[in-house]
Amino acid sequence: MSNGTRVLITGGAGFIGSALSRHLQEEGYEVHVLDDLSFGLRALAGVPDERFHQVDIRDRETVKRTMDSVKPGRVLHLAAVHFIPYCNAHPVEASEINVLGTINVLDACEACGSVEQVFVASTAAVYPIADGAMDETQATGPMDIYGITKLATEKLVSEFHLRTGITSIVGRFFNAFGPNETNPHLIPEIQKQVLAGVRELKLGNLDPKRDFIHTEDMSRAMSALLRVQVKGHEVFNIGRGIEYSVREIVDAFARQLGEPLTITVDPARVRKVERMHLLADVGKLKQVTGWEPRWGIDEGVATLLKERILDRA
Ligand SMILES: NC(=O)c1ccc[n+]([C@@H]2O[C@H](COP(=O)([O-])OP(=O)(O)OC[C@H]3O[C@@H](n4cnc5c(N)ncnc54)[C@H](O)[C@@H]3O)[C@@H](O)[C@H]2O)c1
Repeated sequence: MSNGTRVLITGGAGFIGSALSRHLQEEGYEVHVLDDLSFGLRALAGVPDERFHQVDIRDRETVKRTMDSVKPGRVLHLAAVHFIPYCNAHPVEASEINVLGTINVLDACEACGSVEQVFVASTAAVYPIADGAMDETQATGPMDIYGITKLATEKLVSEFHLRTGITSIVGRFFNAFGPNETNPHLIPEIQKQVLAGVRELKLGNLDPKRDFIHTEDMSRAMSALLRVQVKGHEVFNIGRGIEYSVREIVDAFARQLGEPLTITVDPARVRKVERMHLLADVGKLKQVTGWEPRWGIDEGVATLLKERILDRA
């Protein structure tokens, strides 16, 4: 028997999954979290113990047993390793978690008999290097191990839908920002340096541009996709549709801090191969769901500074 309001989030103790867990609970969903806490934190999941399942998605039998005991109506699969330098250094582990782990989660969704819809987190890293905004019809062309594992994930989801008929949605996330970031990406790196009192920041390449979307806007987009009852198998970009360079992000920190910040390029942080642009065309998401982003970069940076200052008080 299915329960449309009971959802299971894999990776729900992580950066994006925990924002999603909070958001869906506010909307009245009964949220269960499955996470092995390798990167996430138990406290972030924001669910009571009986709805928290500490499970490694590589453990096929336990994933199946857990799914069977929860019997969710919807599953949002976000558990993965995704920090690109980590994936490059650990390609076997990245493949085991992102590819074999996804097979285990999808098979458990099929076997438990209650799941009507599966949402799987993919990434803008499946796109090739290009200058303009990417829409979902753009040919894929990942350039690192992480992107390759996520493209494999996408293909598995498509095959899952063909085999089971269960509605499946792939969300290609662009660059997330917001509170509780677990990986040392650009924004938490700037945040860390600024909050440590540094005013001459040491950063890598300053010119690449990225499409930064706040985790609350991402959660609202995923929730909107649950609500509109997408049918079949669909792929959606989840980004903001605006790109910012590293310099522009630093400028936003300087504005919110009310102090000038200067930048020194640290050669150790400069990547050998760099995408200069990564921008989402979010026309499909907007058209299908009516979703609009609410968070700009300045509001997001302001809360990051305030939150950390409050935390430390
Ligand atoms: N952060 C971004 O900018 C971004 C961009 C594109 C795509 N994504 C995708 O979004 C999803 C969430 O990313 P995030 O930024 O919240 O990362 P995160 O590392 O904070 O969250 C991933 C969660 O998965 C859990 N996990 C990892 N391996 C696991 C395993 N073997 N079994 C069970 N749980 C496991 C971790 O403990 C963590 O809580 C990932 O699928 C990632 O690939 C993120």
